[in-house]
Amino acid sequence: MGQDRKLTAIAAVDRNWGIGQEGKLLVHLPGDLKYFKEKTKDGIVIMGRKTLESLPGGKPLPNRDNLVLTHDSNFAKKHVTSDALTVCLSLDELFQTLSSKAIGGKSVFVIGGASVYEQLLSYCTTCLITKIDAAFESDRFFPNLDVDARFSFVRESLPQTEAGIHYRFVEYKRIDREAESV
Ligand SMILES: NC(=O)c1ccc[n+]([C@@H]2O[C@H](COP(=O)([O-])OP(=O)(O)OC[C@H]3O[C@@H](n4cnc5c(N)ncnc54)[C@H](OP(=O)(O)O)[C@@H]3O)[C@@H](O)[C@H]2O)c1
Repeated sequence: MGQDRKLTAIAAVDRNWGIGQEGKLLVHLPGDLKYFKEKTKDGIVIMGRKTLESLPGGKPLPNRDNLVLTHDSNFAKKHVTSDALTVCLSLDELFQTLSSKAIGGKSVFVIGGASVYEQLLSYCTTCLITKIDAAFESDRFFPNLDVDARFSFVRESLPQTEAGIHYRFVEYKRIDREAESV
C-alpha cells in the first residue's frame, strides 16, 4: 500500500507456543503486562474481535489506537464509542486504515489472537515474545518461531520470576528477506 510500514508482533507464549485457553490468557504475569504496556504505549495495536472482548470490560486499550478485525458490519454501531477504536472488516480495510494519514508514523503492533498472528506474521519484521517456562492447557497458539526459517533469535532478557513462574523477554527478527509491507 505504498507506505512501507512494518509490523511488530507481541505475544506471551508457553513452552509449546500456547497463548490462550477458552478465550483467556494462560497466566496473569503483571511484569509481562507492564512490558506489553511500555512497548505498545502511544502506538497502534491490531487485534481480533475475540481478543478485544477478552480485555477488561471488553474495552480498547488506553493510550493506543486500537484496530479491531471483525466480519460483523454491525460491530462498529454496537461498540465504537470513541476515536480510540477503529473496526476493520477485512485485511484490505486494515491496510487502508494503516495507510491513512491520521495514523502517521506510529509503531504498529499485532497483539493477537491466534488467527490475527497467523494472518499478519508475514508482514512482521520483529516479534517480541515473552517465553514462559511452563506448559499450560492451551487451545490457541503462536506460530513456533524456533522452527521458522524466516525468523532468527536476536536477544533475550535476564530471566524474570513471578509467583514461581519463570519467563524471559525474547526478540526475533525477520532474516530471510524483507517482510511484506502494508
Ligand atoms: N498470550 C498472548 O500474548 C495473547 C495475546 C492475544 C490474545 N491471546 C489469546 O488468544 C485467544 C483469542 O485468539 P483467537 O484466534 O481465538 O481470536 P482473535 O484472533 O482474537 O479474534 C478472532 C476474530 O477476529 C476476527 N477476524 C480475524 N481475522 C479477520 C479478518 N481477516 N477479517 C475480518 N475479521 C477477522 C473474526 O471476528 P468475527 O468472528 O467477529 O468475524 C474472528 O472470529 C484468547 O484466548 C486470548 O486470550 C493471547
